[in-house]
Amino acid sequence: MNVQDQLRETVAFIQAQGVQEVEFGLILGSGLGELANDIQDPICIPYEKIPHFPVSTVAGHAGQLVYGSLSGKKVIAMQGRFHYYEGYSMQTVVFPVRVMNGLGAHSLIVTNAAGGVNTSFTPGNLMLITDHINFMGNHPLIGKNEENLGPRFPDMSEAYSHSYGQIAKKVAEKLTISLQEGVYMGFSGPTYETPAEIRFARTIGADAVGMSTVPEVIAARHVGLNVLGISCITNLASGMQANLNHKEVVETTERVKVDFKRLITTILAEIKGV
Ligand code: HPA
Repeated sequence: MNVQDQLRETVAFIQAQGVQEVEFGLILGSGLGELANDIQDPICIPYEKIPHFPVSTVAGHAGQLVYGSLSGKKVIAMQGRFHYYEGYSMQTVVFPVRVMNGLGAHSLIVTNAAGGVNTSFTPGNLMLITDHINFMGNHPLIGKNEENLGPRFPDMSEAYSHSYGQIAKKVAEKLTISLQEGVYMGFSGPTYETPAEIRFARTIGADAVGMSTVPEVIAARHVGLNVLGISCITNLASGMQANLNHKEVVETTERVKVDFKRLITTILAEIKGV
């Protein structure tokens, strides 16, 4: 079955669960899934029930779609995402973004846990993603282009919406949440990077590194979604601190989740007339 037919079936299934109007897709990264608990009048759909959806394997990723209202906006959130390092194809990793588009979303808010490469960052900082570097060794749009989804050669000049970025910065200031900004560099994982890879990342202009987000943002731009990206800097990258581990990543997201939730919900409230 081709991706268009799969999308039609998946979108129809989700709509049949009562998901009607969708404005924003939300992808909630490692440890950041709790934001979905703030969604009003939720409809929760576990991934395993959804046709053509894979099932997430990482601890700390719940694995469901949550639809409802957040800050007066109709959102559909992924509580848990699919990572390339889990063994999914790039097409599978981005399938949910295409579904969000099929459900009528005009924008995607994507979040992740990331390692800080910029020496002025501290664990617990939130970072507005201004751009990305695809260093994952693959690309979700390789293969026959799906003309109904988007163009063969999508423009990535403004992968992350400048106007959403401006709103995010104003909101952070108003809430007195410190918001760093910078370039996110996507590695495939599942190893954390080596110190040499991090020096390389810094040299070529990265401020943060992680194992997600890049494929989803590419697919989002392909179909024309506006993107806001926020990283939670959970640790300093390899070689900049003692050993890295997933426990620290989860502990840091736990520590900053209140600010993270306030930031995203207030940004959503402030976005008008897309
Ligand atoms: N590297 C890659 N991915 C990550 C990191 C990191 O240091 N921290 C959280 N996710």
